[in-house]
Amino acid sequence: MNHFQKRVLKFTFCVSAIIGFIFSNTNAQITRLTLDLAKPGANVSPMLYGLMTEEINHSYDGGLYAELIRNRIFKDNPTKAEGWSLVQEDTINSKASMKIIAATQDNVPFDERRHAINGALQSCLRLTVEKAGSRVGIANEGYWGIPVKPNTAYKASFYLKGTGTIQPPRRPGSQQPAQPAGTLIEDNTAGPITVTIESNDGKTIYASGTIELAKSAFWKKYELTLSTSSNVKPTTDARFVISTNRTGLYYFNLVSLFPPTYKNRPNGNRPDLMQMMVDMKPKFLRFPGGNFLEGPLITDAFPWKQTLGPLENRPGHRGSWGYRPSDGMGLLEFLLWCEDIGAEPLLGVYAGYSLNGDHIDAGPLLKPYVDDALDEIEYVMGDVKTYWGAKRAADGHPAPFKMKYVEIGNEDWFDRSGSYDGRFTQFREAIEKKYPQLICISSIADAQYPDLKVKSGKKPAVLDEHYYRNSWAMWENASQYDKYDRNGPKIFVGEWATREGAPTTNMNAALGDAAWMTGMERNSDLIIMSCYAPLFVNVNTATATAPKAWQWDSDLIGYNALTCYGSPAYYVQKLFGSYLGNKIVPMAAENIPTQPRPLTRRDSTEGITKAPLVPTVFYSATRDTRTGIIYLKVVNTIGKQQPVEINLKGIGKIAPDATLFVVKGDKPEDTNTINDPEKIIPVSSKINGIAPAFTRTLDPYSVNILVLQTGK
Ligand code: AHR
Repeated sequence: MNHFQKRVLKFTFCVSAIIGFIFSNTNAQITRLTLDLAKPGANVSPMLYGLMTEEINHSYDGGLYAELIRNRIFKDNPTKAEGWSLVQEDTINSKASMKIIAATQDNVPFDERRHAINGALQSCLRLTVEKAGSRVGIANEGYWGIPVKPNTAYKASFYLKGTGTIQPPRRPGSQQPAQPAGTLIEDNTAGPITVTIESNDGKTIYASGTIELAKSAFWKKYELTLSTSSNVKPTTDARFVISTNRTGLYYFNLVSLFPPTYKNRPNGNRPDLMQMMVDMKPKFLRFPGGNFLEGPLITDAFPWKQTLGPLENRPGHRGSWGYRPSDGMGLLEFLLWCEDIGAEPLLGVYAGYSLNGDHIDAGPLLKPYVDDALDEIEYVMGDVKTYWGAKRAADGHPAPFKMKYVEIGNEDWFDRSGSYDGRFTQFREAIEKKYPQLICISSIADAQYPDLKVKSGKKPAVLDEHYYRNSWAMWENASQYDKYDRNGPKIFVGEWATREGAPTTNMNAALGDAAWMTGMERNSDLIIMSCYAPLFVNVNTATATAPKAWQWDSDLIGYNALTCYGSPAYYVQKLFGSYLGNKIVPMAAENIPTQPRPLTRRDSTEGITKAPLVPTVFYSATRDTRTGIIYLKVVNTIGKQQPVEINLKGIGKIAPDATLFVVKGDKPEDTNTINDPEKIIPVSSKINGIAPAFTRTLDPYSVNILVLQTGK
């Protein structure tokens, strides 16, 4: 096509676009939003937006919790050293092997079980070096790689002991059964041990140090710092290696490697992920679950007491999502996380129901669990003179944490036995007796599960509702709270998400989320708190040695060992949380365009044959009475521009300029990824022409936040 043909084509396209625009606009009635500023409007809940977290998708181990060593206490698998491999460069002149010594395995000979450091650290890894032609050692692959960054100091530590014989000598007169003779290897273990962060092929050493292994058959803790230089290129193609060039038996336990953490907290969190959360300005953090609170069996509930104190005292436990949490992220770490992001803890206490369907009936059998929850609450907010408050002080935090809400269980509607009614009441009564200032949240909501709701005793003041939906369902139900009874309990939307896109959600999901959030915001006199789930996902796929990192598609923030990114929905939430007033502005809408929702299987079972119409424009507005700023949020869910007339009824003065934030995509599937992390991010601009009545044309697939300055 020559230049002239191109110009003709462009002209023809422009003319037809203009004709099409005029045609569609003369046919359609203008969409009108009227903000009634003469009406006072209800209060926006000061805790409307928060976060929810649990150990899923490697949220902590291999995620927020900064520890880099996978399987540091060798308990992930009793027969296999998951995450570990043998380093043996000269296979001709060296002879070495490694083995898990799992104290709890019955088939492990008695004498071999004598390597426990304490009741929590019972398993260890033995490196047997029979010949050392060159270096031999153990390597840890980390959580899908060890992240190497320039100018970085890593704190390494481990327990190590060296001997020459597998069996310690039997005490004379020992009643223990005779064991086969121990393997005798020349004990040359004492001496320098090399510790490195290096490339997976061992050819590039990024950081290195040595420690002097003492001549002792007893456990000793060793610590050293490994520093990278300024010219290393960031990579995850790296491993952590402890090596020797001398024969003997080397026993390892609690091997740890920490990069710098947020606010330099010992045993702390990744700074980049912490910053992502700080930027969202969350008002609370719901933890420790989710399913992680409950565990697969009654014996697997979040064992908060064994997550306290030094790492040496933390055995870890069976998690709910297919891998074994280290519990390095323990109760105090959750609380410090809250403190660091300026959020209030919202504690979920185990309420006697577990994921396999078992439950403990209300009454004497449940009492120890109620007492355990009271202890836990005392650890969080008890005075230092209380037993658990003193423990918290001893753990380094004398000041009690401020907490207002405790949730009794998680999704107890899975328990179809009806036992929650009694369990909730037993917990609530005991908690309210000791802490009258606390509000107990029911994990069963009346509207969602009317047959299972709490009926006896006092009505729960707050109900937790969960919604995992596709965007159509979000759009269809975005106004559901407009119709809720204002005299009933308050609502906590404790888990919600538009589930489209994996591992993090796409633009269409962000449009579903934004529509849903306008509904919560318009009704934030009723919806006192809300939090999306799941928050985090490690986006690594399966490798030869490690499984896929995530169990749940559709998450908010993705990462690998080195970097992180936000989904489009993350940016929408960040904007919604940052631009929020303290009063709801009553609004009226006219001529909201609609589109037919595709029919579903459920429709056909319910006899629905005509596609229901769902809105394509969603809206909410709040005002900050201290500054006079109005935050108007308008969402366009379809792939064409939509003009909207905005009327500010009862307005005094209004500034002619405003700030507009837009999150938008070219198509619904557009998304951010670990390799393209900023395809969709908010764009801000100054706009003018603001008046008591003005028109904005919304971009296709866009979430728009207008910041309007009025007189106070
Ligand atoms: O967010 C993932 C899971 O969904 C939570 O663990 C559980 O509460 C819900 O069913």
